[in-house]
Amino acid sequence: MGTAKRQPWVVGVSGASGTPYAASVIRALLAAGEAVDLIVSRAARLTLLDETGISFRDAHWRTDLARWLGTEDRLDDVRYWPAGDFAAGPSSGSYPAKGMLVVPATTGAVAGIALGLSKDLLQRVASVTLKERRPLVVCVRETPLNGVTLKHLVELDAQGAVVLPASPGFYAGGSTVRELVDFVAGRVLDAVDVPHSLYLRWEGELGAAARKPGDGDGDRAEGE
Ligand SMILES: Cc1cc2nc3c(=O)[nH]c(=O)nc-3n(C[C@H](O)[C@H](O)[C@H](O)COP(=O)(O)O)c2cc1C
Repeated sequence: MGTAKRQPWVVGVSGASGTPYAASVIRALLAAGEAVDLIVSRAARLTLLDETGISFRDAHWRTDLARWLGTEDRLDDVRYWPAGDFAAGPSSGSYPAKGMLVVPATTGAVAGIALGLSKDLLQRVASVTLKERRPLVVCVRETPLNGVTLKHLVELDAQGAVVLPASPGFYAGGSTVRELVDFVAGRVLDAVDVPHSLYLRWEGELGAAARKPGDGDGDRAEGE
C-alpha cells in the first residue's frame, strides 16, 4: 500500500482572472485523495496578487499556497514546479501524470497550447498531455472572444481537449460567489471523473435546487 505510485493531476494556473476557480479545483482534488502537481504562470502571479493580495513565491510556495487555499490540509500531496523549469517532471511524457487541468486558461495559453508553442512549462505540459492522449481540460476565461481564440478553441477540441468555459450555471441554486465558483470547479472535476460535492446536480425537477433546505435564504458567507 505504502509503495503505490504517485500519479498526480497537473493543475496549470495561467494569468486569467479567476484564481478562485483554481483554488477550488485544487482543494477538491486534494479532498478526493488525488495528488496535485502545480504550475503557476508568470502572469498568474499578477492575477493572484490582484485578486487575493498574495505574492506567490517559488521559494515559499507552500506558505503562499496555504494562504491562497485557506488551508494547510493535504499540502503534502502537492508538488510545485516553477513555470520556467523545463526540466520539471511533468515536462516529459514518461512522468506518470494522470492528465492536466488548465484553470483558469488565458487566451494566450489557449493559443500556445493549440499551436504547440511550449513557451513555458504550463504550455509544454499541456502539449505533452495531448501527445500522450491524456485528459486535458482547458477552462478558458475571457469575454467576449475574438475570432482567433474561437479558432484555437476549436483546434483544442479537435485535438481531444475538453474546452470548459468558466461559465457558472445558475440551475444548481448557487447564490454566493463561492457557490458559483464551486460550480465551475465541479464541472472541471466532472470532466475527469473525480468525485466531489461542489454543486447540486440537476435531477430533472424545475426549481428543486432553490427549494433545498437552507438554500436561497441569503445567509451564506461569500467565498474567496
Ligand atoms: C489582472 C489581470 C487580469 C487578466 N485577465 C485575463 C483574462 O481574464 N483572460 C485572459 O485571456 N487574459 C487575461 N489577462 C492577460 C494575461 O495575463 C496575459 O495575456 C498573459 O500574457 C497571459 O500569460 P499566460 O497565459 O502565460 O498566463 C489578465 C491580466 C491581468 C494583469
